Amino acid sequence: MIPTQGKKQEDLLILLEEAQNKLGYLPEELMAELAKSLDMSISDVYGVATFYSFLSTKPQGRNVIRICKCLPCLLKNAQAIIESVERETGIKPGETAPDGKFSFELTNCIGACDEAPAMMLNNEVHVNLTPGKISQILKACK
Ligand code: FES
Repeated sequence: MIPTQGKKQEDLLILLEEAQNKLGYLPEELMAELAKSLDMSISDVYGVATFYSFLSTKPQGRNVIRICKCLPCLLKNAQAIIESVERETGIKPGETAPDGKFSFELTNCIGACDEAPAMMLNNEVHVNLTPGKISQILKACK
């Protein structure tokens, strides 16, 4: 359930997305400032910031991998894709590589179910994934 409803939440989401795009994540101080300026509690702001998978409260790697974890993708062997990303990057979902090259997350549906399994790499959608494709895609990352 989304913790805050209405216009304030809409304004908050816009501000959080802007900050995410600018800073790459949402620092605690920024969430506290937004809470104050929108007359909301910090926990409400934090609740919204952690509800959406495209927002992050931790610094992210240069490349953010988001593998879809929903049923249509799981039925098309998303688990093998997850394991393949783990092998290629050395990190597990929820982690960022020590060199800052990759962050790895699992996400809800990204709207590519008909071409499952699917992932987002930064802002780009990749579909019909195989372990071989993952290897190729990730090797091209800087
Ligand atoms: S269920 Fe994976 S993209 Fe929709």
